[in-house]
Amino acid sequence: MRGVVLAGGSGTRLHPLTRITNKHLLPIYDRPMISYAIEALVMAGITEIMLVTGGTHAGEFLRLLGNGHDYGIDRLSYAYQDRPGGIAEALGLAERFADDEPVLVMLGDNIVEQTFRSTVESFTAQGSGARIILTEEEDPVHLRHLGVPEFDEARRVIRILEKPEEPPSHYAVTGIYCYSPDVFRIIGTLVPSGRGELEITDVNNWYVDQGSMEYDVLQGFWGDAGESIDAYYAVNDFVRQNGANKG
Ligand code: TTP
Repeated sequence: MRGVVLAGGSGTRLHPLTRITNKHLLPIYDRPMISYAIEALVMAGITEIMLVTGGTHAGEFLRLLGNGHDYGIDRLSYAYQDRPGGIAEALGLAERFADDEPVLVMLGDNIVEQTFRSTVESFTAQGSGARIILTEEEDPVHLRHLGVPEFDEARRVIRILEKPEEPPSHYAVTGIYCYSPDVFRIIGTLVPSGRGELEITDVNNWYVDQGSMEYDVLQGFWGDAGESIDAYYAVNDFVRQNGANKG
């Protein structure tokens, strides 16, 4: 399985900090944000990784990560996204890198307390379709800003709703997704949403409609450090006190 870490986007919710740098280079405790996603993939056993970024600070990622060997990466590739055209568009840039292998995608602003190695193993055994990682979230106000799955009686996902007014469950979709190689064909069929982006939720709902979407529920803390300045500091506080990417 190959890994794709997404570190493009505009980071408007962290303006003005992100007017002068890329969000994923901002510190989380003692390291740049992006190091945590890279470390999470390596801990999950993924050592062929592509980093997708864009904007004006792409060179800094090379300076930080180099050839990736210091991080335990065998092969680190880079792609440049010309404009922030969405998470699914950014993933699409990794098609040739993936070379018909399954991929695990992680958003570079996501931080996890525990490794998700078991998801990688389960997806390898699954062999096709997609697998996402959910996190439990009791706060309905927070859920209204996230992707929320709806389940049937058998606890299968029947739909993912983006930023729902009435959240249909107490779970949120994290930014960690496993896909079979057909994901690139699906991305090619997407049309831009109202905000002009190719949406990863459309990709996920395609797999839901096919009946080939599985999920795991993450153990421990999950944070999206790009969600707001308060979320950014909450993630910093958590990592400083508890650490991240535990085995
Ligand atoms: P978002 O947080 O949804 O978007 P953003 O980073 O542009 O921030 P904001 O909404 O505050 O303007 O992006 C989630 C992750 O996906 C983030 O780690 C960056 C990455 N991403 C890309 O790589 N390319 C893109 O075109 C977009 C929109 C996001």
